[in-house]
Amino acid sequence: MTKTSTAHSLDLRAWLDEVRALGELTEVSGADWNLELGAISELNVKKERPDALLFDDIPGYPKGFRVATCSTSSPARLSSILRVGHQASHRELVKTLRGRPKQWQAQAVEFEPVKVESGPVFENIQSGDDVDLFSFPSPLWHEKDGGRYIGTGCMVVTKDLDSGWVNVGTYRVMIHDRNHVGLDMIPGKHGAIQYDKHMKAGKPFPVAIVIGCDPLGYLISGIEVPFGMCELNYIGAILKQPVSVVSGQLSGLPFPSASEIVIEGWAHPGDERIEGPFGEFHGYYPGKAETAPVVTIERIYYRDNPIIMGSPPAKPPNDYSYSKAVMRSALLVDALQAAGVPDVEGVWAHEIGGARMFNVVSIRQRYAGHARQAGHILSQCGVGAYMSRYTIVVDEDIDPSNMQEVMWAVATRSDPDLDIDIIKRGMGSKNDPMSIAYPYKAPFNSKAIIDACRPYDFLSEFPEVAEASKELQDKVRAKWQHILD
Ligand SMILES: Cc1cc2nc3c(=O)[nH]c(=O)nc-3n(C[C@H](O)[C@H](O)[C@H](O)COP(=O)(O)O)c2cc1C
Repeated sequence: MTKTSTAHSLDLRAWLDEVRALGELTEVSGADWNLELGAISELNVKKERPDALLFDDIPGYPKGFRVATCSTSSPARLSSILRVGHQASHRELVKTLRGRPKQWQAQAVEFEPVKVESGPVFENIQSGDDVDLFSFPSPLWHEKDGGRYIGTGCMVVTKDLDSGWVNVGTYRVMIHDRNHVGLDMIPGKHGAIQYDKHMKAGKPFPVAIVIGCDPLGYLISGIEVPFGMCELNYIGAILKQPVSVVSGQLSGLPFPSASEIVIEGWAHPGDERIEGPFGEFHGYYPGKAETAPVVTIERIYYRDNPIIMGSPPAKPPNDYSYSKAVMRSALLVDALQAAGVPDVEGVWAHEIGGARMFNVVSIRQRYAGHARQAGHILSQCGVGAYMSRYTIVVDEDIDPSNMQEVMWAVATRSDPDLDIDIIKRGMGSKNDPMSIAYPYKAPFNSKAIIDACRPYDFLSEFPEVAEASKELQDKVRAKWQHILD
């Protein structure tokens, strides 16, 4: 049965109106798709309070064919995307998100997407010989990129061969020519697992790629939603409303009915080509370009005046490092609690490590071994293991997101001989910039856990911190506000 009334179409334009009303949208006219748009976005995101950008009048393209970037990089925008009110401060956003991923995951099953017959995405259709990926202003983001990337802030919809489970992942998409793209799915990612199954069975792999919609779409398809769960359900749980989807005319794969652009086609067995290079979330190009599956695009659906959702990686802070840090930190708190680690005050997956490689947890120490337990689990749990490198455990008086405080704790509360544990042959990546110096044949790495908590056995004797008490600070701040603010 098809319904329309209570489902959410993930319309990007409605969200852009909200951001405009928040005063956080800058509209840019005339920037070139060839490097200029990418460099503007990269410089913008390094500002203290970066706006979202909406590019129009892109040379060589019709007015109205637009590109949006920097959508998730402020607390107010990220909270509006996650439907948790408008949290103006980072601290409030993190507090509000505590425990939410666990709830969303538990409720996802209740929010099966709702199939509708049609939607704005079908306003224009290219098929057969008409298909031309160059109809859209896909940027050449950086000087050393291997091609124009139409898919960065995208959602790649695929299906499992046996169970029919629909997965949605954010994987980069490079244009090869007018009807072929390269799809880079790291081995082990859910889309890659589904692809491998099809290839082993000698069957073409159907793919529908959503190139723009409400950024909640790519935010959730870019995080580790459990194996077997469809991200569209998880998104429905956040919206408290199912997502309305239409079916691809060729593949039958579902995608949001208000998607801006959707490209649909098949990856055929044996069809792989050189893809990239493209910068990675940690700020480096991997060593060399490698082959990746090619998708032959047979149909393109798009709205009038379509908007590409762009979210390119680069040296952090980059387009999505803030949202990754917020999301992964919330997921890591849940993971620690699920593993039975008590009294976790906070976790911060720092942007400098691409929210993967440099993570801090603060705890209120309850027993001997509590700190090491928290550190080891953080570095090894499902959400945390991939490419984790440094994990630091601090006491509750240290804000894990404040690098100055964290490194003060490392400098003053840890001893290298006593307090650094090393895990060898951990879960690394072929994209680790340090892999060049590793002796391994497979993608391992090593992981350091730095216990920068005051030693539990000497807690009562450990020297007092030399600073004004909280009460005195508050009193003086209130009285001398005109000097201190
Ligand atoms: C903007 C952005 C780009 C990404 N690009 C890739 C990519 O090219 N390849 C990849 O395997 N993962 C990429 N990721 C990470 C995956 O989206 C993430 O690991 C996600 O959990 C994958 O979905 P899956 O768990 O369903 O496989 C990207 C994430 C974001 C937010």
